[in-house]
Amino acid sequence: AETLREAAEAQGKFIGSAIADHRLSDATYNGIASTEFNSVTAENVMKWESIQPSRGSFNFAAGDRLVDFAQANDQQVWGHTLVWHSQLPDWVENGGFDAAELTEITDEHITTVMDHYEGDIAYWDVVNEAFNEDGTFRQSVFQQTIGEEYIANAFRTADAADPNAKLCINDYNIEGANAKSNGMYDLVQGLLADGVPIDCVGFQSHLILDSIPGDIQSNLQRFADLGLEVIVTELDIRITMPADSAELDRQADQFEGVVSACLAVDGCAGVTVWGFGDADSWVPDVFEGQGAACLYDESYQPKPAYDGVLAGL
Ligand code: XIL
Repeated sequence: AETLREAAEAQGKFIGSAIADHRLSDATYNGIASTEFNSVTAENVMKWESIQPSRGSFNFAAGDRLVDFAQANDQQVWGHTLVWHSQLPDWVENGGFDAAELTEITDEHITTVMDHYEGDIAYWDVVNEAFNEDGTFRQSVFQQTIGEEYIANAFRTADAADPNAKLCINDYNIEGANAKSNGMYDLVQGLLADGVPIDCVGFQSHLILDSIPGDIQSNLQRFADLGLEVIVTELDIRITMPADSAELDRQADQFEGVVSACLAVDGCAGVTVWGFGDADSWVPDVFEGQGAACLYDESYQPKPAYDGVLAGL
């Protein structure tokens, strides 16, 4: 295959990237985004703070541009994200709402956004990062105000808004079997037993060079065995800077390993990387001294990691 998307398409899978809306005006960025990927995720512009910054006022312009870009390039759009504790506007987080009010606000957000994008979005991250590292529920404003019922509510509301979109729960540090992924497993098993409409689990996969869990395939398989799709949704592999060529080569092998672990699971629909170029990656901003986590370097030249992903597809 000549491109990542051709390799993925040949197997009926997708290879995606998070897209920074404001970078699409750059010809190099736009060219790679359109030719190498057959799925795109909005890196920021579909988050609550962007889309409903104040109550009842919705901003769809940036998300609409991404949808237009995707349609022009025959790409799937992954919706990210509806209910999340982060990048949540202050009017929601500190509004002092009771459970009934916050449920109504959440339902209205989900319904309005999903109605707007109905037919344009294949998968939605309905709930993002609901767990603590020990597998208990994160004490977000949703959990604190409504209780864990907010999760089932969100999925039921999402299913009513767009019955054709696939509805996912997404989190990080759940790639291998551990306390957090066990918490996720128990949750989704319970949701399915209760008839809650959930279709998929997203494994963010913000990983660290030389610390990739060895059991990704078997962990994803146990979720797939519940009848859910599994997706690697935000893959990057960060390196302590500066990265040397031996590290970039190991990074390539580790990208290949993650991609092939997912694709070895029948229920794995695809893999999305969290930005394709080191120049745009969120990693250096958030993880002090870490970087070089993507497939292309600061000048948009493909790194060994690009060949690793291609080999894994
Ligand atoms: C990150 C974006 O990449 C940054 O641009 C933004 O400043 C913060 O959020 N998990 C998620 C993503 O689900 O939405 C996050 O994206 C990375 C971690």
